[in-house]
Amino acid sequence: MAATTDLTKLVQPDRVHRSAYTDPAIFELEMERIFHKVWTYVGHESQVKNTGDYWTVLIGRQPMIMVRHGDGSVRVLHNRCPHRGAMLCGNRLGSAPDGFTCSYHSWQFHTDGSLKAIPLERGYKGTRFETGAADAAMRNMKPAARVANYRGFVFASLAADGPSLEEWLGPAKIAFDDICDRAPKGEVEVVPNCFRVVQQSNWKIFLENQLDALHPAVTHESTGKAAYEVELEFEERHEKAPLSYHFLSAFSTTPIPKWDDFQTLNYSNGHSILTGYMGLRPSDPDTLAYEETLRQAYGEKRMEEILAVNIHHVLCYPGLSVQPPLQQLRAVRPLTVDKTLTEIWHFRLKGAPEAIYRRALGYYNLVNSPSTLVNADDLWNFWKCHQGLASDGGDWVSFHRNAGQDHVQGNLTTSVIGTSEAPMRNQFSAWGAYMGGT
Ligand code: FES
Ligand SMILES: [Fe+2]
Repeated sequence: MAATTDLTKLVQPDRVHRSAYTDPAIFELEMERIFHKVWTYVGHESQVKNTGDYWTVLIGRQPMIMVRHGDGSVRVLHNRCPHRGAMLCGNRLGSAPDGFTCSYHSWQFHTDGSLKAIPLERGYKGTRFETGAADAAMRNMKPAARVANYRGFVFASLAADGPSLEEWLGPAKIAFDDICDRAPKGEVEVVPNCFRVVQQSNWKIFLENQLDALHPAVTHESTGKAAYEVELEFEERHEKAPLSYHFLSAFSTTPIPKWDDFQTLNYSNGHSILTGYMGLRPSDPDTLAYEETLRQAYGEKRMEEILAVNIHHVLCYPGLSVQPPLQQLRAVRPLTVDKTLTEIWHFRLKGAPEAIYRRALGYYNLVNSPSTLVNADDLWNFWKCHQGLASDGGDWVSFHRNAGQDHVQGNLTTSVIGTSEAPMRNQFSAWGAYMGGT
């Protein structure tokens, strides 16, 4: 980025300069000003059930460890040995009930990051280290500045100051309420495995696609049509196709004008909600059995309230895309200006029948998995977008669709139609505020 580049000129209310996606210097600024400041989803508390259980995760540029400490709390630590800087955990997950031991010179740490032991400590005799002049950072693993847990979903922020997690999420916290409320026991458990997909594009292209209600009928048309044809075959035999076909056929049987009937609700900090479009309350025996468990747990009235929540997608900008009715989420971890890792997780509703879990698993495999055509269709677009933006064929990205027509009421912008590009404009409004440029 040229030293003179003025970020205010890159982001305008209805268009964005391509360098916001392709300039490595802007990417570095994003890490510093956005990802090292906001609340980042690190994982679900059920990933670390026992003392010493840990998972490693990236927050912006920082390799971190989420670990269960002996007092039951979940800690988030920098994955760095204070001796010579080696990462403490080179693997993705593991268990260290007695604390961490560095594989380089065997310094040992408790699961809250404090120093436990240094072998052959006599070597430090008379040095700055022994006399106490060494600061805590030379003895202990550094923790994240703040850690917060909302209904089992653990977030961390590297910034000491800023809004609390709940303030920052605002109305987007409905993502986690909707997931958990659908469980008869009011909480979920992670399925301890995730798909990890590296897409060849800037991270923002992924987020813009999440609430892009115009693209499914185009990009996923062939996938949806194939599933629809199978549904028709079932119908001809007077049978009902399994719901999993509906997950795919909805892409093509929902024509563009129908997408316009839905709404996006766009809030502060770039968060957005897409209202629901798929009928997920059929009257098959599995669904009825599930409803009975909810009725037993909450009573009829509350059950109806829970099942009436009509959200398809919640985007917690800049790092999370949640699909609450199907208990799944995708966490966005930017790697470089043109490479982005997404981690795709799903959850079990505690107390719900196994068949309801199988349904979520079906959606996970059929729509969000890297092996499905749906994901492949999107990945192909993401790569093509990035290639086009990196070219000299034009300078601007257009977000003009329904610009100036959406309904603004305080911190909420409601899209005038479902395919308005309001969510993308909302994301860039937050981007500008974080980057200090607009
Ligand atoms: S780098 Fe960890 S003990 Fe030396
Ligand atoms: Fe898509």
